[in-house]
Amino acid sequence: MPAITATAPGKAILVGEHAVVYNRPAIAVPVSQVQVKASVFADIHGQPGEVWVEAPEIRLTAHLNELPPTHAIVRLFALLANELGIPRYPALRLRVTSTIPIAAGLGSGAAVSVAILRALSAFVGHPLPNERISALVFEQEKLFHGTPSGIDNTVVTYAQPIFFIKGQPFSLLAVGAPFTLVISDTGIRSPTAAAVSGVRERWQRDSATYERLFDQAAEIAQQARRCIENGENRALGPLLDANHRLLQQIGVSHPQLDRLVDTARQAGAWGAKLSGGGLGGNMIALVNPAGADAVAAALSAAGAVRTWITQVKAGLGKDH
Ligand code: PMV
Repeated sequence: MPAITATAPGKAILVGEHAVVYNRPAIAVPVSQVQVKASVFADIHGQPGEVWVEAPEIRLTAHLNELPPTHAIVRLFALLANELGIPRYPALRLRVTSTIPIAAGLGSGAAVSVAILRALSAFVGHPLPNERISALVFEQEKLFHGTPSGIDNTVVTYAQPIFFIKGQPFSLLAVGAPFTLVISDTGIRSPTAAAVSGVRERWQRDSATYERLFDQAAEIAQQARRCIENGENRALGPLLDANHRLLQQIGVSHPQLDRLVDTARQAGAWGAKLSGGGLGGNMIALVNPAGADAVAAALSAAGAVRTWITQVKAGLGKDH
C-alpha cells in the first residue's frame, strides 16, 4: 500500500523572540530549505494497535509500546487519538526523516510534530485542518518546552511568514517584495527552555528594565511588519541590528553569535541578529540576493558550522 507522506518546513524568527513570550508581537518566516518528512505505511502483517516507528536522525527504531509513555512520539500518538476519538491505531509503520538540526532554533521539534500529525491523521482518514494541527502541536510544545509562545507551531503549520501575538489571532504577512536571508548555525546547542527560563528569572528580579526592552522589541516588530508589507527590504536591516542589541541586553546572546553577526555585517549584510532562543543556535542576516554567497562564505570562515540561504517569497496576507 502506498505511503501517506507529509512534510513541514523549518522556521526562523525574524524579530521579537523572547519579547513574544511577554505578549509582544514577533515575526517568523518558514525556511523551506530544511524540512521534516513523515510517511505512514499500512502494516498488513501487523495486529491492530501495532505501531512501528523509525527515525534515523535520532537513531530510533522501536515499537511504540516499547517507548516510555513520556516519549515525544508516544505523546503525539496519544494527542491525536484523543482528538479523533480513536481507541487504537491500525497496524502501521511511521518513518520520520529530517534535515532540520535539533535544538538550533530552526523549529525542528514543531516540524516533527506537524509532519507526523498531518501524515497520521490523513492515514486514519481524518486529515486535520491547519488550525487543529497547530493547536495540537502547541499542546505538545507545552509538554516539552515549558511556556512556549505558540509562534513556532503557527509558522511551521502555515508555512508562511506570520505576525504573531501570543493568545491572539495571528496574521499571515503580505510580503511586498521577496527578501533573502542567510541563516547560520553556531553549532552551539542551546535548548530554548533554558534561555526562556533565564530571561524569566531576570525579568522577575528587574521587571521595569525588561518590560522596557520588550516594549522596544515590540516597536521594532511593528516597524518590521510595515517594511515587509511595503517591500522596503533594505530598511529592514537596521531593525534587525537594533533587535540584536536588545537581545544582547536581554542576556541571550553569546560571543560566537556576536561574532557571526559582526562578520555578516562586514561582509555586506543589510542587518543581522541572533534568531530564536539564543545562547547558541542560529543567527540570521538580511542580504542583497547578489551578495548572499559572499556573506555565507564569510560566516563559514568565521566558524559557522552550517549556513542556509533562503528566500522569503512575496505573497498576499490574511488574518486568522
Ligand atoms: O529557539 P526557538 O527558535 O524555538 O525560538 C523560541 C522563541 C522564544 O521567543 C525564545 C520562545 C517562544 O516560545 O516564543
